[in-house]
Amino acid sequence: MRDLLARAEAGEGISLEETASLVAREDEAACRALYEAACRVKLRYVGNDVYLRGLIEYSNICARNCLYCGIRRGNGRIRRFELGLDEILGAAALAEEYGYGSVVLQGGERRDGRAVELVDEAVRGIRKAFPGLGITLSCGEQSHDVYRRWRESGADRYLLRIESSSRELFRRIHPADSDFDERLAALKDLRAAGFQVGSGVMIGLPRQTAADLARDIFFFRDLDLDMIGMGPWLPQHDAPLRDDTPETPEKAARRFRLGLNMIAVTRLLLRDVNIASTTALQTLRPADGREMGLLAGANVIMPNVGAVEHRADYQLYDGKPDLDENAAAIRAALERSIARIGGHIAYRTQGTPRHYLARLNRLSEG
Ligand code: 5AD
Repeated sequence: MRDLLARAEAGEGISLEETASLVAREDEAACRALYEAACRVKLRYVGNDVYLRGLIEYSNICARNCLYCGIRRGNGRIRRFELGLDEILGAAALAEEYGYGSVVLQGGERRDGRAVELVDEAVRGIRKAFPGLGITLSCGEQSHDVYRRWRESGADRYLLRIESSSRELFRRIHPADSDFDERLAALKDLRAAGFQVGSGVMIGLPRQTAADLARDIFFFRDLDLDMIGMGPWLPQHDAPLRDDTPETPEKAARRFRLGLNMIAVTRLLLRDVNIASTTALQTLRPADGREMGLLAGANVIMPNVGAVEHRADYQLYDGKPDLDENAAAIRAALERSIARIGGHIAYRTQGTPRHYLARLNRLSEG
């Protein structure tokens, strides 16, 4: 293990089997060594800054029916909402006031003209009112034209998770109207439209193996992604995806561990990308889950800046934290907890992924 870690840290390239063996580590000492190596690589390639992105969950109306998700279209038990333009701009103003370098607009996937227009207006409005704020979209699969339009209106980044790079697993967790190749094509369209592109997977899905997860990391690398957002799969009471055996605290702890390991191994292999420490980690360990993600190699956190009013209707999974914490309380808690682990929050800077900047340089020199 020591030799393997040293080779990975030196950037020598390790095999798929070796990658899987790192992802699967469970013993405390080995995991600690893994996270420390990942943090050294983080320090060397992206520094110790933590970037905060103000998350605006603008709508839970969704045309998709993903088997794991609480806002799938088939869930008749939640109240559907869509923020108005003024509410979205208000949330962005809060992010600006708090010194967050960027905002993320995240909503259910819709391709109808009105939904596309709302996002477009929001992007143009934020760009005009807050020229220095980075704008990230997380609005699902869209046509190349829509991606281009949003990009031209001023959006910089786009998050679209592949959920699993295993075709078979992808098929098991999605209904027939979701298609792996279409998702892949959308990720390529995003790059062609000029976005900084992020993707990611769920970790600890039923019947997912360490080899699947290792292949996910190789997939990130092959796609040359700029940003990675991934977190443990969490059962959702209204969603049909279930594990073969009942949920236990031990299983949750194992998924949490796997989530940290995935962050660390992704940092070791991909070096200069931005990696988010996600809400799913915080869900499994509300006190310090996201902070542990930072200590395993992540460098981005996405605190909610939306109104508390709609939080309960945006439960992608059970146990989502901060249900009635307002944005100010969330910010104060994060400041304390990040200071506690020796992290440094970089305020008022967009935190563009080094990986993206390096690619731009190569292109302009090439
Ligand atoms: N557990 C963990 N993550 C989930 N997501 C959706 N449902 C769940 C769940 N039950 C994640 C998906 C999606 C992102 C917005 O939320 O990966 O891309």
